[in-house]
Amino acid sequence: MEMAGRTVLITGSTDGVGRYLAAELAASGARVLIHGRDKARAKTLIEQVRRPGSSEPSFYQADLSSLAEVRKLAEAVLADHTRLDVFVSNAGIGSQNEGPARQTSRDGHELRFAVNYLAGFLLAHLLLPLLKAAAPSRIVNVASLGQRPIDFDDVMITRGYNGARAYAQSKLAQIMFTIDLSEQLEGTGVTVNSLHPATYMNTTMVRAGGVTPVSTVEQGGEAILHLVSGDDVAGKSGLFFNGMNEARANPQAYDAAARQRLRALSVELTRLAAG
Ligand SMILES: NC(=O)c1ccc[n+]([C@@H]2O[C@H](COP(=O)([O-])OP(=O)(O)OC[C@H]3O[C@@H](n4cnc5c(N)ncnc54)[C@H](OP(=O)(O)O)[C@@H]3O)[C@@H](O)[C@H]2O)c1
Repeated sequence: MEMAGRTVLITGSTDGVGRYLAAELAASGARVLIHGRDKARAKTLIEQVRRPGSSEPSFYQADLSSLAEVRKLAEAVLADHTRLDVFVSNAGIGSQNEGPARQTSRDGHELRFAVNYLAGFLLAHLLLPLLKAAAPSRIVNVASLGQRPIDFDDVMITRGYNGARAYAQSKLAQIMFTIDLSEQLEGTGVTVNSLHPATYMNTTMVRAGGVTPVSTVEQGGEAILHLVSGDDVAGKSGLFFNGMNEARANPQAYDAAARQRLRALSVELTRLAAG
């Protein structure tokens, strides 16, 4: 897909692989909607990636640990644009950012479930009118190979918490949501796929976990760009990729009853039905 003139929203694009993506897409002439929490870092990024003759990248500030801020972000994008060609749900917290203790979002939800999954779930739904207006359009959920089945009796991990479990549960939730949403979007021209970009890229979340990086952001970034614009994935939906290749996710992703349970819980937690 030719990216010049396309409008692309990337959450978590003031750092890590999202920042790389923003720069690459701006260089290919896309109108990039940068999202992050830090205005100063966004300003620096915009100065680095703006190109004469191309649309100026714009910045949307929101803390995705607040569902109210997620809604405000969607409202701002809806107010400013009439179409969205690609939505990359990339923002995330690793297993150890800010230490090993269990944390909660502003809405009282387990923090990794809230930021890594629930925020993207709500944003994707709220942005659907713009994505449908731009069809054929794409949603890309940046998940991980780190996946752990959701215990529906304790989704907020109030017992036996550890960061790795919380992270892996949130990443599988993204993949389950991808399959679920692809079924709902059949026939609309909006596709949705998820991926593990690369293993232990050299980014803030990996360094926060004390892990020695083994991949570069360029490697993970290329895998995400493949789902953003690759011609070979045009029209494909509901798939999980490990890097550049289609792969199988944790078995719970293929359990329709589990996906339905996750959807019902997510609709309730985000008050989606209430609009
Ligand atoms: N690194 C890896 O090896 C690896 C492997 C598999 C999957 N992934 C996935 O790749 C994606 C990008 O991660 P990365 O490695 O690039 O990590 P990163 O450098 O730590 O970047 C994470 C991004 O998410 C944003 N973010 C975190 N918490 C937020 C919140 N509460 N509200 C709004 N934004 C928030 C950060 O915003 P600020 O800029 O404001 O801090 C940052 O831009 C994540 O979904 C991650 O799970 C990464």
